[in-house]
Amino acid sequence: MKCLQINGGKKLEGSIRVHGAKNGVLPLLSACVLVDGITVLHNCPRLSDVEVTVDILRYLGAKVTRNDDTLIVDASNIHRNNILEEYMKELRSSIIFLGALASRTGEACLYLPGGCEIGLRPIDLHLKGLKILGYRVYADGHNVCAVKNNVKGAEIVLPFPSVGATENIILASVLASGVTTIVNAAREPEIADLVLFLNKAGAKISGISTPTIIIEGVKSLHSTEHTVIPDRILATTLMSACAITGGNVELTDVCISHVMPTLPAFEEMGCRIKAEENTISIKAPPRLKRVKKIETMAYPGFPTDCQAPVMSALSVAKGTSIVKETIFENRYKHIEQLNLFGTDICVNDRIAVVNGVKNIHSADVRCTDLRGGAAVVIAGLKAEGTSTVRDIYHIDRGYESIENQLSMLGADVKRMYDEKEQQTKKSKQ
Ligand code: UD1
Repeated sequence: MKCLQINGGKKLEGSIRVHGAKNGVLPLLSACVLVDGITVLHNCPRLSDVEVTVDILRYLGAKVTRNDDTLIVDASNIHRNNILEEYMKELRSSIIFLGALASRTGEACLYLPGGCEIGLRPIDLHLKGLKILGYRVYADGHNVCAVKNNVKGAEIVLPFPSVGATENIILASVLASGVTTIVNAAREPEIADLVLFLNKAGAKISGISTPTIIIEGVKSLHSTEHTVIPDRILATTLMSACAITGGNVELTDVCISHVMPTLPAFEEMGCRIKAEENTISIKAPPRLKRVKKIETMAYPGFPTDCQAPVMSALSVAKGTSIVKETIFENRYKHIEQLNLFGTDICVNDRIAVVNGVKNIHSADVRCTDLRGGAAVVIAGLKAEGTSTVRDIYHIDRGYESIENQLSMLGADVKRMYDEKEQQTKKSKQ
């Protein structure tokens, strides 16, 4: 296993391109299962979550080739209706194959997905939606199966705008007869992009970016080409990294409206933001200011995925910031690791109180989850001395070689063998 070694204290400066969205490309790859032909997807980042999803597609019978950041998926010969347990455990969003695969093959049998590090993450809303459409759904503690049985369009009201449930229901209904209406659908940009992609392939879906999505079933989807949207979470992560180091960074290939929900927080921190066309420039003050309150919400609210990286920047701001996590019940695991740097953050249920400290010191920390991992890397960029960040496989799920991206901006970050972990392994043998 590898770790990151960070020599902190360097200001981030320069320009960097924001890669394609992890949460965008994953549902698009699931959607390929519905296309009786070839899908060409541009701007697909090299992330471990993307590679596992490609492995799933190949297991199902698709031919997938990569040409730089373009993935070409030929799903003409999908011949399996199950997914190996090892893939399902590795990737929570593997559950998005349920609707697409059941729709394509008539039956999908999956293991329950892994990825419970930030909360319970039930799939009841996914299953409820499929049942209303007419799928017979069986689930026990390990497996979930959906069988196509007189499936037709229906109205599905979601009690919460779940991103995954909205995606699963769209994919389960796009080839069903009749009209499906999803009320209180999630409005995340990745869902709008999924709808755009499906419409290009011949689907008839309206209500894009609104809470009511209307899907008129079509008979088939045809070959198409599409470009994945930029990763708004990566953009905010890089802005947090810039902010904590007092840096001056330009992000290119950003969709500004997607990043809008986090910009006011950086302005409140005292950063100067310039947003033009598809570029955002951020210039941070020598010392950040506290933010009165950040509360995570479904889009267009402040994204839960940005909570940890932004909290890292706030940990050295002047004054006390309040953060409230409303989406996931257990998304504060990074705080224990951040406090190893000498930050002063305490949690009470869903509220985190971030008492900004002036200086932080180097630490030996680990990634507790994907975005929590990004948060500790950000703290390492500020901390005086050399920090080590372990368990970076979490980070590789969503950031394409984070060490290269940060090094391009002047940070001193290296990926190396985790000798401590090797020694621990040896001593156990
Ligand atoms: C997606 C994103 C994840 C992001 C999250 C919220 C992907 C691959 N992942 O995850 O990065 O943090 O949206 O923006 O796109 N819930 C239920 N029952 C369900 C489904 C969800 O109770 O059937 C609850 C969850 O426990 C959670 C909340 O709804 O508390 C939000 O979950 P959801 O929007 O479904 O997130 P994901 O699709 O898992």
